[in-house]
Amino acid sequence: MTTQQLFINASQVVTCSGPPRARRGNELRDAGVLTNAAVAVDLGRIVAAGPQDELERRFPSAARIDCERGVLTPGLVDSHTHGIFGKPRFEEQELRAAGLDYMEIARRGGGIHSSVRDLRARSEDELFSLALPRLRRLARHGTTTVELKSGYGLTLDDELKSLRVIRRLQHTLAIRIVPTFLGAHEIPLEYRTKPRTRDEYVALLVDEMIPRVAREKLAVFADIFCEPGVYTLDESRRILGAARAHGLALKLHADELEPCGGAELAAELGATSADHLAAISANGIKALAASETVATLLPGTMLFLGKSAQAPARALVDAGAAIALATDFNPGTSPTVNFPLMLTLAVSQLHLSVTEAMIAATTNGAAALGLAAETGQLSRGFSADLALFDIGDMRELPYWYGDHRCRRSWVCGNACHA
Ligand code: NIG
Ligand code: FE
Repeated sequence: MTTQQLFINASQVVTCSGPPRARRGNELRDAGVLTNAAVAVDLGRIVAAGPQDELERRFPSAARIDCERGVLTPGLVDSHTHGIFGKPRFEEQELRAAGLDYMEIARRGGGIHSSVRDLRARSEDELFSLALPRLRRLARHGTTTVELKSGYGLTLDDELKSLRVIRRLQHTLAIRIVPTFLGAHEIPLEYRTKPRTRDEYVALLVDEMIPRVAREKLAVFADIFCEPGVYTLDESRRILGAARAHGLALKLHADELEPCGGAELAAELGATSADHLAAISANGIKALAASETVATLLPGTMLFLGKSAQAPARALVDAGAAIALATDFNPGTSPTVNFPLMLTLAVSQLHLSVTEAMIAATTNGAAALGLAAETGQLSRGFSADLALFDIGDMRELPYWYGDHRCRRSWVCGNACHA
């Protein structure tokens, strides 16, 4: 049997070809769209993307995959999700509609705390069974790499339980999964009243949880919700410093609702990404632009929370920052697995071009996971991670908003779904 595959008859092949790192500035203006082109794969890696007639001659015995005039793109890279949770939190949506703010719901013990109570009461098996169909749905929209955070456990055992669910999902699903430890998602309620203090929880994170997660190799990244009312800048510096010392790469939920210097801290610490940024300051934009840190924008979150603010994507791009897009899939602020819908929001709410949005959702999403040399572009040597959409032009992907256009997808040349 041949180990070669040839993807033929696409109306467009969107390669996003270029250097194996996050793109910025003018590099965001060209998604490398080819027509009359094919993609050749051998042993799960791309060997060529180019003129179809030439590749058909070069690979006469490759298994043909007929794209039937659809658009072939790099598989989408969703670099920010909280996909390990129990119950949905639909009741909060109506509370917000009635005028209660997200942070106010949290102050009353709802929000993240409500997911924490729920997740602590569930077994690893139960959480796995809940996550599996959710992630299958996510994959059906064209996402081939997804980051999954813990963060609804907030005890050593419950965080380990969540990370073990992620590990089982890695072994079960064809998509690529990147695990992140988010033990610093909130200050647990039991550490807010005497005799316990928040300092004790920070110490637990630094002295026990981070070393254990790193030792068991259960996460690649450590993340924190750095926000007024949640973790302070000083606590964030301390917790992320410990994570880095244990070999974890860094991410921050930064300047999501109020500016507090989170973006600046991300740049200072050399974090792989700073995420949300709807309230980033002018200084924060400058700091990210001058750094390697990817600015990950999550327009679904602000939309779902009913906020009019969105991250200043244009200002970030124009300043020279590298931007990525992601769903923020979670039960509280963004219960969607529809990544193409984020492309719609990127164009209509963040004022990005379709080309900028496409690169942000692929190459730069990969960079936000430290995978820019592995996935996120259809170029020689890269993993054969592809998505095929039922459209004739790349610009239709954000256009038919909310629709389901992904026909098939592959990771390492293996089909992710029928
Ligand atoms: O990215 N901001 C913090 N974390 C999530 C929300 C989590 C939740 O509400 O359950 C976010 O928006
Ligand atoms: Fe998040």
